[in-house]
Amino acid sequence: MSDRLMNMTVVILAAGLGTRMRSKRAKVLHRAGGLTLVEHVVAAAAAVAPADRTIVVTGHQADEVEAVLAPLGVGFVRQVGQKGTGHALASCRERLQKSDGLLMVLYGDTPLLSPVTLQKLRDLQSTSGAAATLITTTLANPSGYGRVIINDKGDVTAIVEDKIATPQQKAIQVINSGIYCFQAPLLWKHITELVPNAVSGELYLTDMCEILTRHGHRVGALHIDDPDELLGINTRIELADADRVLRERKCRELMLDGVTIERPETVTIDPHVRVGVDTVVEPFARLLGMTEIGEECRVGAGAILESAVLEDRVVVGPYTLVANSRIETGAQVGPFARLRPDSHVGPDAHVGNFVELKKTHLGRGAKSQHLAYIGDSEIGAGANIGAGTIFCNYDGEKKHRTSIGERAFIGSNSTLVAPIEIGADSYVGAGSVITDAVPPEALALGRGRQVVKPGWVKGRKKAAVKEPSTSSS
Ligand code: UD1
Ligand code: MG
Repeated sequence: MSDRLMNMTVVILAAGLGTRMRSKRAKVLHRAGGLTLVEHVVAAAAAVAPADRTIVVTGHQADEVEAVLAPLGVGFVRQVGQKGTGHALASCRERLQKSDGLLMVLYGDTPLLSPVTLQKLRDLQSTSGAAATLITTTLANPSGYGRVIINDKGDVTAIVEDKIATPQQKAIQVINSGIYCFQAPLLWKHITELVPNAVSGELYLTDMCEILTRHGHRVGALHIDDPDELLGINTRIELADADRVLRERKCRELMLDGVTIERPETVTIDPHVRVGVDTVVEPFARLLGMTEIGEECRVGAGAILESAVLEDRVVVGPYTLVANSRIETGAQVGPFARLRPDSHVGPDAHVGNFVELKKTHLGRGAKSQHLAYIGDSEIGAGANIGAGTIFCNYDGEKKHRTSIGERAFIGSNSTLVAPIEIGADSYVGAGSVITDAVPPEALALGRGRQVVKPGWVKGRKKAAVKEPSTSSS
């Protein structure tokens, strides 16, 4: 590890409720781009400090926030009583006051941060000699953000929060992103000088600029031209904005890697999803969780794949749902099919419209093209399940398994009462209710025999003439 990484500690403030979200859930747990807001910030922080030198300050719903982040290996400090961003950072004083080197402070509600920007901030701070450097940008509509007061030397002398800014200060368009890099010893020495804001009663971390300046130190600014990545999420409108940007980033990344995405602005792809070259993703598709898609596949319009694995040349038709299931090379699923968890569609198999699979393995080239429920079963290679077939896998208490041999043919509208075994190369006649095992190469029929009465209609009419109605009216 480089010395620069060794000398950097990151603190991420994530203890606030986020009142403006109007939610029971802590703001940093809201999701954008498939992850919680704070997970994005932790991911960006990894570019400047290892996880074991990254501290997340938690408070509101601390247990939940810590549960989400613990697998990433970061440490936690609890802020008791949410008395502002300055108070949140001061909560780390005991734990970190002996740290030298640099201390970067990030807010847990800025999910669009890029690692490169954090590296630039670190580099500027480590060479400029300033006590601190913060990232600023210029916004056409700066409302809600702290306004940055800069002197004629280009140094930051104060940050004025939106709530307490005068009309002249509100006209300032240079805003505080909430991303700071401090010389750690100077920060810990002076943080005790923060006083509650006269209006809100909170300790504002932003007041550190004035305090450090007052002690004769310099606070620098790293001005970023593209304000997009500094978006702080305070409302659900901004949450949707961030989601859109993150989804777009993921689509662009995949398109540059050789995936065709039609109308990418309508497509939702989670960060860990992988897609192979020459796969086509149609509008409104959702590729979620740990979904992995091979090469030359097609994902139809409105399909939802949740932790699905598709091998190469798989076609998923429009409006198909696939959850925790695997589809092998050349198979076709949908349109309007539903694969529930633990389903496994073999190579070149077909699953058509309004077919539901659950905990089922369909062997190579097996087919179920229309209107069927197939649960808890093993379907042999080349078998054909006719339209309207229902696997009765549940007796009201327990689930039972069905096994269909290779090349077996199940006629339309059959009802297979599990547990049951249908042998290879056998046939089940259409409309059968099958309750007993069918041996290989047999024909099974389980239905009422058809009766035909020739001329029956004429006979009925004659009978009606002989017996006139007995009604009194
Ligand atoms: C803050 C800045 C503002 C800046 C903006 C950028 C202050 C006083 N203001 O305002 O200058 O332009 O961010 O997005 O810092 N938090 C705690 N404990 C608390 C309060 C907040 O951990 O007691 C955490 C929140 O969970 C959040 C972050 O700090 O992740 C920022 O808090 P927020 O209330 O969103 O600050 P802003 O009003 O956006
Ligand atoms: Mg904020």
